Formats: sequence, C-alpha cells, structure tokens
Amino acid sequence: MDKFLIHGPTRLEGSVSNVTAKNAVLPILAACLLTEEPCVIRDVPQLEDVSTMARLLRSMGVKTELRRRTMKITAGEKVERTATYDIVRKMRASYYVLGPLLGRFGDARVSLPGGCAIGPRPVDLHLKGIAALGAEVKLEHGYIHAKGRPLRGGTMVLEGTSGPSVGATANTMMAAALARGETVIEAAACEPEVIDLANFLIAMGAKIEGHGTPVIRIKGVKRLHGADYRPIPDRVEAGTLAVAAAITHGNLEINGCEPEHLTAVIDRLRQAGATVETGKRRLVVNAERRPGPVNVATAPYPGFPTDLQAQFTALLATGLGTSVVTENVFESRFLHVLELNRMGAKIDINGRMAVIQGVERLSGAQVMASDLRASAALVLAAIAARGDTEIQRIYHLDRGYESLEKKLGDVGAKIERVSY
Ligand code: EPZ
Repeated sequence: MDKFLIHGPTRLEGSVSNVTAKNAVLPILAACLLTEEPCVIRDVPQLEDVSTMARLLRSMGVKTELRRRTMKITAGEKVERTATYDIVRKMRASYYVLGPLLGRFGDARVSLPGGCAIGPRPVDLHLKGIAALGAEVKLEHGYIHAKGRPLRGGTMVLEGTSGPSVGATANTMMAAALARGETVIEAAACEPEVIDLANFLIAMGAKIEGHGTPVIRIKGVKRLHGADYRPIPDRVEAGTLAVAAAITHGNLEINGCEPEHLTAVIDRLRQAGATVETGKRRLVVNAERRPGPVNVATAPYPGFPTDLQAQFTALLATGLGTSVVTENVFESRFLHVLELNRMGAKIDINGRMAVIQGVERLSGAQVMASDLRASAALVLAAIAARGDTEIQRIYHLDRGYESLEKKLGDVGAKIERVSY
C-alpha cells in the first residue's frame, strides 16, 4: 500500500493540465459492449477505475488494447454476460455493463454492489429503467439477473429521493439504444458525462435527442457500429485543482478543462473571494487571502457537484467566519470531516449539514483517506497546513486522480509517495 507524506504550507503557482473525465470514460467503455465492431477511445486517463473497467470487460471475453492513452475495445460475438462480485464490489461503476449487455444480448447478470463509504447507494432506478423496457428482473444469489429479448421502448421517470440518477439514466439509455421503438426518459440526469455518453452512442449510430435536458428520447436502432471518440475533460479534477489554488492562496492556470461544466464551482470560488478567469478550455484561479464564508449545497448538475463537496469543505475550513455545507446527494458523504478536524478544522456535522468555523491555519497530522474525493480533500488540506501530514490509504485517490502528487508537485506542493 502507498501513503502520502506532505509538507506544508505551500503556495501553488504555475500551469497544470486537465485529464479526460473518469466518469465519462467508464460508461463509454461499457457502451463498447453494444457492438461487435472495434471502438477506439482516446485520451483515456491512467486510473485504477479505468483499469478495473478494462479488467471487467476482459473477464467477459472482450478484447482491450491500450497503446499510450488510446484504448481499442472489441466485444466480438462471444461475450460472457456476467459481472462478478469480485469486480463489482471494488467498483460500483461496473454496473454500467447492465444496460449494454441487456440491450445487445437480452441477458445480463450483474452482482449487487454492496456497501459504500459515501452512504446507501441503491440501484432501484437502474432496475426501474430496464423494467420499463420490458426486461424481467430477478435477484438471485446476490446477483441481478435481467432478461428481455427484444426490449421494447418505454416511458419512465428516473427520479429518486435525491433527484435524478446519472447511472440509471446512462444504463437505460444504453439498453434503449437497441430496443424496438421509442424510449422516453423523464427526470433524466443532465450531467455533462451523460451528454458525453449520448454523443458516443450517437457516434455509434444511436438515435438520441434531448440529452442534457430532463427528457431524453431514444429511437431504438437494429445495430450499432464502432466509433472513434475522445471523451470530455474531467470537471472534478479541474475543480479540485481550482480549490488547490484557492486553499494555498496561489495562482493556477488549468488548461484543457471545460469552464462551462464548472459554473456553480466558479461562482462559489468567486463568492469566497478568489479571482477566476475563464477562457476557451482554460481557467485561471488566483487567491490572495483567506476565503470569505460561503454556503454551499450540493445538487444534481448544474448545481454544485457532490464530487467537489469534500474539497470545498477543506477550503472553507481555512476561511473567515462560518460557512455551511449541505450534502443533498449522498447522505453520509462527510467522513473527511472527522479527519479534517484532526488537522485542527472546526466542523460540526448536523445531519446533512456541516457547519464550518474557519480557522487561520490547519496543522499537519496523520489521517486516513476514506473515499476518492475525501482523499483529495485531505491532500488539499495538507498542502495548506503547517507541518507534516501523513495520508494513509491513498489507493482511494488513485482510483480517480492521475498522479495528483506529481501534478501538484510540479506547481509547488511537497508530496512524497511512500510504499509501506
Ligand atoms: C455518479 O454516481 C458518479 N459516478 C459519482 O461520482 C457522482 O458522485 C454521482 O454520479 C452524482 O453526481 C460515476 O459516474 C462512476 P447517481 P452514480 O445514481 O451514478 C440515488 C466519484 O467520486 N440513487 O446519480 O452512482 C443515489 O443514492 C463518484 O467520482 C437511487 O436512489 O450516482 C444518490 O443519492 C462517487 N437509486 C442519487 O440517486 C438508484 O437506483 C444520485 O446518484 C440510483 C441512485
């Protein structure tokens, strides 16, 4: 296992570049199951979750070839229709194979994912989506077994108690691409990664309209073909880097990003007193003093992303006055708070709210990462804190950030990766 040793405080200054979005690449790789022709995905980020998805596809008999950052995926005639517990328990996004397997073969067995550090994460909306296409869904021995051939277009509302679901929208869209007739997904997720998946499916020959709005219409086609595609930039990585600039009172240019996907985050950074300039595929964040108090409430896109809540909580922990962060998407996504408090932050949790009393400086401490974005928050806190921080269990970070220590190190952070 690896851990980070971080020496702070540091001020970040310089240019960094944004990678391709993990959360766009994962469903796109799964969507390659929808055709027997090869698909080429470009600028694939080097991340543990991407390797896990490739491993899952290979375990199903799919051919994957990675050269530099280009992945070629061929899901020929012989494809196993099962995603086993061993892989699904490591990565919930394995669930993305459900829709394509069902769409193409009329048969999918996917293990139920089990527990998750950020709270209960049911799959009822995924099942509601495919059931509306006529699939028969059974739970057997810990596996969801879905069958239905042919699938028929249907109308469904994919909204749960916390709003629309990215994963359920994606799975239903993939299954419906090859169903007979028209599917209408109401209360669909509008996240950029859902739009990107729709664009990839369209590049494969699918007929989809309304992606990026709450009503997506899909006219099923008989077959899909291979496509060559470059997914969108990672808005969560870009947002994390922007917060890194703000928390260190630094100045960072983030190249290759899509500022349009970050409007809520840019707005809160400005409210906190940072200067944010936006350009074509570029953001410049400059912060000269402690952030002012800001209230943040996470919400489905275009609201403030839950995937940047932990990082923003770390920023506001070093701010002036009292800020309130409300987590509306995943109810238990506050494990980072206990660790931030060990670094001197003053944060009280009250249900879905974190009440943050800003302190002038955090102090280095030994802390433990609990999930991907919580790990990023601890890294940001540590580069701004006085003294040495040791972050254990950074395998969580490696799932979704490509060499974050190098990226931040190139602009002034002092981070060492140590194997133990
Ligand atoms: C995606 O997860 C992302 N994962 C998450 O990123 C992200 O936090 C989340 O969307 C919200 O933006 C990937 O893209 C791989 P949801 P997903 O279904 O699809 C409830 C990260 O750090 N719900 O939109 O699993 C659910 O419990 C990860 O990169 C149901 O009730 O999220 C939550 O409250 C973590 N029933 C809400 O909907 C369902 O069947 C939104 O979840 C499905 C979800």
